[in-house]
Amino acid sequence: MPLIEWNDSLKLGVAVVDRQHQRLIEIINRLYDATMEGRGADVIGEIMDELIVYTATHFSMEEKYFAQFHYADAEEHKQEHDALIEKVTAFVDAFEQAPAASRAALAKELLQFLQIWWRYHMMDTDSKFVALFKQKGLT
Ligand SMILES: [Fe+2]
Repeated sequence: MPLIEWNDSLKLGVAVVDRQHQRLIEIINRLYDATMEGRGADVIGEIMDELIVYTATHFSMEEKYFAQFHYADAEEHKQEHDALIEKVTAFVDAFEQAPAASRAALAKELLQFLQIWWRYHMMDTDSKFVALFKQKGLT
């Protein structure tokens, strides 16, 4: 079982956003599998780094459209993005510096946080820009 199951209920109806959300969920699920399988810190750390890089790429894409479409809630939305990057980066730093015995617990804590954060962010925060994006021609 994946940690987060990608299905139609998570789709917002804007293809570029949905595609990137799906890829983010895939990375999170890979991190979950590696953690549950007890993989080494090198493998888990690599997936964490990939997650941070891809999350930043995804947020930049959304924010580019916020600017282009003059999205009214851009500032508030960007604050959520920045806070997430900051929090995940702090988690990954802590993971890398933690003694081996406590790393799995840290990874699980991060995953639990990501599971809740992403569901809320996609279903609530992101859903607010959908009408505007569609109106501007993104399908
Ligand atoms: Fe977003």
